[in-house]
Amino acid sequence: MPPNETPIIRLNDVTKRFATPKGGVYTAIEHVTMDIAPGEFCTVVGPTGCGKSTTLGLISGLTRPSEGTVEVSGKPVDGIGQGIGYVFQSDAVFPWKTVLDNVAAGPRYQGHNVREAKEMAREWIARVGLSGFEDRYPHQLSGGMRKRVSLAASLINQPRILLMDEPFSALDVKTRVLMENEQINLWSQTSTAVVFVTNDL
Ligand SMILES: Nc1ncnc2c1ncn2[C@@H]1O[C@H](COP(=O)(O)OP(=O)(O)O)[C@@H](O)[C@H]1O
Ligand SMILES: [Mg+2]
Repeated sequence: MPPNETPIIRLNDVTKRFATPKGGVYTAIEHVTMDIAPGEFCTVVGPTGCGKSTTLGLISGLTRPSEGTVEVSGKPVDGIGQGIGYVFQSDAVFPWKTVLDNVAAGPRYQGHNVREAKEMAREWIARVGLSGFEDRYPHQLSGGMRKRVSLAASLINQPRILLMDEPFSALDVKTRVLMENEQINLWSQTSTAVVFVTNDL
């Protein structure tokens, strides 16, 4: 990160401990320090159980550190932050909504009228390569296509930060590589900082 830039995400000597069901304490991450610049694409690679999801949970405000500090845009994280998108391994789409309505949901929530929201959604559906599938329901799509819907539904909100938790790990190898390359392409057209978590080198 350039030395005089304010990081969009800063973890300073962060430790997270969980209480275990047997009454013990489990340390998930310990003394983690990292800075991520606005618009940066940061990949975190590590084996299952090393604390990747825990780290994303701390950045998103879903959980709090046991020690150390987590800051977003220079402010300590306090509850669920605005402008943070999350893409999970499982499909986070509304099964009862069409592709168009899934992608339009964010703009609708942000107060755009139906026509505007659908117009914006069509644009993002095209960007993720799903033109022609606007009227399909999630169960009528492949796993890779549902991931595209999730991506479009997140990116349409122009998040400052996009947290991606092993988003493509349930896909077959070929689709995964394709999605990863396309994801980089899409990201390079935005000013979103991405924290991309994976166990796949
Ligand atoms: N809420 C929790 N309570 C107790 N232990 C947890 C909790 N969340 C995560 N852990 C433990 O912390 C470790 C790291 O978990 P996680 O961050 O999900 O790993 P990763 O995403 O890298 O696979 C794991 O051993 C997990 O069992
Ligand atoms: Mg995880």
